[in-house]
Amino acid sequence: NNYVVIMAGGVGTRFWPFSRSTNPKQFHDVLGVGRTMIQQTVERFEGICLQENIYIVTSEEYYDLCKQQLPYLSDDQILLEPSRRNTAPCIGYACYKIASKNPDANIVVAPADHIILKEEDFRKRISMALQYSETNEVLITLGIQPTRPDTGYGYIQFTESGEDIKRVKTFTEKPNLEWAIKFVKSGEFVWNAGIFIWNVQTIKKAFELFLPEMAEAFDGINDEFYSGKEADALKKAYPQCKNISIDNGVMEKAENVFVVLSDIGWSDLGTWKSLYDISAKDEDQNVIDGRALLYDTKNCIIKTPHERLVIINGLDGYIVAEYDNALMICKKEDEQKVKEFVAVAGTKG
Ligand code: GDD
Ligand code: MG
Repeated sequence: NNYVVIMAGGVGTRFWPFSRSTNPKQFHDVLGVGRTMIQQTVERFEGICLQENIYIVTSEEYYDLCKQQLPYLSDDQILLEPSRRNTAPCIGYACYKIASKNPDANIVVAPADHIILKEEDFRKRISMALQYSETNEVLITLGIQPTRPDTGYGYIQFTESGEDIKRVKTFTEKPNLEWAIKFVKSGEFVWNAGIFIWNVQTIKKAFELFLPEMAEAFDGINDEFYSGKEADALKKAYPQCKNISIDNGVMEKAENVFVVLSDIGWSDLGTWKSLYDISAKDEDQNVIDGRALLYDTKNCIIKTPHERLVIINGLDGYIVAEYDNALMICKKEDEQKVKEFVAVAGTKG
């Protein structure tokens, strides 16, 4: 009865020039380990569900990338969205489609672009949550001990009751810095890992309650799932869906949210600095993925094509990233500017 839904439709602009709308980071070997992020994500769920119960949700333009990188998945397992409308429609589509086949399904929803170093511990937490969601009407998320007041995450305040699975008091998606600092200081909050576990009937009820027009849209095309007419039906359903994340649309509002505190070596590889932080470094604290000769250079992350020799002299604390037709050299501490660079270069360029 277990299913896994992998969300892989984001563009990942903060990882430019690697991540492009034509080839976003989930389809890259960001860590330089010989597997792309989406391949690693699928493999991480081995033993959690049957291979035929793994679904990828992505946009139509990434169909070829999915087929190349995950050739063992059938077309029915690659869900193609007609447009990008954030994670609530993405999750709604997958969960309603799974429900039409198996009304008792227990589902894990996970992003395709995260790193999890302790895979065995991860699988244990997921299995426990799946078991709990089978008999309890709960929306479960994994909670991560915060290390800094990052405003890019959801913050979860939980009650002390319950050994492993704790009831959530408040869920705040992407607070401002002032609040993020208060949350982290208080010690009562964890980050939302963006990995959700629920029974399909529980999430359907939540959609009916909080996003009724979405529930109606997907209910309306129930007979079209697994038929040749699914793509056309979606073109009708998607415009009826709000452009909203599952966090803002459901998790902040629902009262039956629970959290499993998870020490799993989790990292959302959102930015260059996050990649730098988790990577192995040389004696000068440089992270090098490429053929680079460094002189008087420290605290840098260098990711360049392996066929190209790069010589760097006298840099401290920089990102040097080359991919395809673009090279970016940017101070690590200025990495929030990457979004501005992309705005100039265009997400495709
Ligand atoms: N199919 C599809 N369609 N996938 C999407 C879409 C979409 O329209 N939008 C985003 N995704 C995918 C992204 O590729 C990513 O894998 C995942 O859904 C989450 O989207 P993000 O855009 O990366 O969300 P976020 O990082 O800003 O915030 C979420 O994750 C944080 C942890 O990493 C939230 O759940 C936060 O609360 C959480 O802390
Ligand atoms: Mg993310």
